[in-house]
Amino acid sequence: MPYFISKTNGCHFESVTLNRPKARNALCTPLFRELNAALQRFDQDPEIGATVITGSNSAFAAGADIKEMKDLTFSDAYTTDFIELWSAQTTAIKKPIISAVNGYALGGGCELAMMADILYCSSSATFGQPEIKLGIIPGAGGSQRLTRAIGKSRAMEMILTGRSISGTQAGEWGLAARVFESSEKCLEAALDTAAEISSKSKVAVKAAKEVVNKSQELGLRDGVEYERRVFHSLFGSQDQKIGMKAFVEKNQNPAWTD
Ligand code: HXC
Repeated sequence: MPYFISKTNGCHFESVTLNRPKARNALCTPLFRELNAALQRFDQDPEIGATVITGSNSAFAAGADIKEMKDLTFSDAYTTDFIELWSAQTTAIKKPIISAVNGYALGGGCELAMMADILYCSSSATFGQPEIKLGIIPGAGGSQRLTRAIGKSRAMEMILTGRSISGTQAGEWGLAARVFESSEKCLEAALDTAAEISSKSKVAVKAAKEVVNKSQELGLRDGVEYERRVFHSLFGSQDQKIGMKAFVEKNQNPAWTD
């Protein structure tokens, strides 16, 4: 699976392109492993500020690899913690991930797209959790993340029937942050956003991702308290001094150091 490093305005970010065209980017185990290894490498690289995950114009990913799964027994799945490692590793990444979704994002593909921090798509993208048609259910967070994103009734309808929705609908229902008229514009916007995030203070970006994610787990009172603690801690960073000094001096381009 090829991935490449880009450098924009002195800011580094990564873009990973899922590349298994003959299988509509179905997520087989070697692909999961390679994706996670790449994400972990970027997470540990101090130069890198964000990562974009995309697929082809026709498929982001058509789900977990059905051919690989079809003979799996309960024992195999349970004892190997099938899927758990992939999903746990992807969601443990501390730096922002943007998914740029074009074409099919089905099953595990939809789940991967939703694991990202920001989801962009083209209007013609197709999102779905069609597992029910295979006699299974979503297994990498689909029932939880889709429900949080679009609400119970819509998620139930999609998961119980296996029906898909378009990128346009995904935007209207709040699954996608932004919807673009073409695949090219979608990817371009995702790369621009990654570059913009990468130009910010890394310590503040990491803290911001952490507190937003906490909102999915904590009640409002605990979440606000958590945010305030992290907010306080940023006054111990160099970047807080640099950012506020730059504002006062009308400097638009602070040189972050943390
Ligand atoms: C394995 C897949 C695949 C998949 C497509 N292919 N999706 N192989 N796993 N998920 C393979 C096909 O078998 C075929 O191989 C080739 O890719 C092209 O697929 P076609 O069906 O001929 O293409 P097309 O007519 O364009 O239809 C595209 C499609 C369809 C609508 C995406 O392929 C499809 O419905 N795929 C399955 C989608 C799905 O059910 N996803 C959920 C999987 S379960 P050959 O060898 O014939 O050329 C899942 C569980 C998640 O994701 C649990 C946790 C991760």
